[in-house]
Amino acid sequence: MTSAADFPFFPGVRSLHSPGPSHVPKAVQDAMTNQPMDMGDPRVDGFIAACERGLRGLLNTQSADIFLYAANGHGAWEAMTINLIAPGQKVLIAGTGHFSDSWAVLSEAIGAHVVRTPYNEGYPIDVDAIESILRADTKNEIVAVFAVHTDTASSTTTDIPALRRAIDATGHPALFVVDVVASLGATKFEMDAWGVNAVIGASQKGLMTPPGLGFCAADERAMEVCNKNPAPRFYWDWRLRKSELSYRKFCGTPPQNLLMGMEAAFGLIEKEGAENVFARHRLLAGAVQAAVEAWSAEGQLQFLCKVPDARSVSVTTILVAPGVDPEKIRKVAREQFQVLIAGGLGQFAGRVFRIGHLGSLNSAMILGALGGVEAAMESLGVATGGQGVRRAIQYLAEHTK
Ligand SMILES: Cc1ncc(COP(=O)(O)O)c(C=O)c1O
Repeated sequence: MTSAADFPFFPGVRSLHSPGPSHVPKAVQDAMTNQPMDMGDPRVDGFIAACERGLRGLLNTQSADIFLYAANGHGAWEAMTINLIAPGQKVLIAGTGHFSDSWAVLSEAIGAHVVRTPYNEGYPIDVDAIESILRADTKNEIVAVFAVHTDTASSTTTDIPALRRAIDATGHPALFVVDVVASLGATKFEMDAWGVNAVIGASQKGLMTPPGLGFCAADERAMEVCNKNPAPRFYWDWRLRKSELSYRKFCGTPPQNLLMGMEAAFGLIEKEGAENVFARHRLLAGAVQAAVEAWSAEGQLQFLCKVPDARSVSVTTILVAPGVDPEKIRKVAREQFQVLIAGGLGQFAGRVFRIGHLGSLNSAMILGALGGVEAAMESLGVATGGQGVRRAIQYLAEHTK
């Protein structure tokens, strides 16, 4: 067993560039240091309402019900599946890679009959496959289509309006449900305008809050399906949580300090302006992509996502050539250069590393992260050409007003 004391001391800060948990800004940390309150204190209702308002704003929904949970993203996934899909009923899950697979496995474990479309490595959702499965479902047995907006493992973002158009083209009544865990707060989402019936998300990525708060949003159609769904449930049940009382809303004591942190995070987003937040994410993603492009020229690294327009603004997954060990790159980046990046998940384990660039970040932080990663690769003898940081600097200089 190791404890924190077993690790060497280092001065300064460690740069967290995992695609969640992401860097928690000081204002959020400070808000979380407040004492909890008695349950009758109206301030509790105040910060819950602020989080609900903030989520509605970022989701761009007027009227969806918001359900916050003391849970991570898996909890929110389970809440979504169990509220909408009765045991034995069908759900169609669009293949995006590791996270669509994980949601499918979870849904099967709680009784859903999951139909999957294949994930074609390096490419976004196969919209045609979704369309043909729905057309073939002439008895309308599929209750919902689940899709992950940004699959954090493959760093690929799905065109949600295009998927909606494909569902509409079939005339199928299935609900359209989207996972925004890795996209909300980093890129635009338009729940109402895009015809998304329900959404799941979590606190620890674009929302700049530590892990532990999950949420679902459900429109009227999703609530109708929930109300008729006979699946046994209690903690996750939207019907029980639809209440003005905070104790009922959370099926028990609300996770007050996380909620105070999330309220502060929404304050930061409001101060910067959501459009500016999204523009900053595009800028920083562009800088990371410029570096990866430079590294790729040497032949040992390449983008996992082959479609430039589908590359996420939240995270970049970098495929390494056989013989290059991404876990060694991660370890040297972390232990020698204090840059914390992520590894490969599922089918990508041992084949990729991932640089997170979402949440409370700026250009200097991104250049520091790229510098640490490039230095780690150089010290391991990985051919990078040594021009990644240079190209990122050029990109930022050209694109910063
Ligand atoms: C897109 C996506 N969905 C769901 C999850 C699951 O969230 P959690 O790890 O908080 O359970 C993650 C986690 O990284 C994710 O990236």
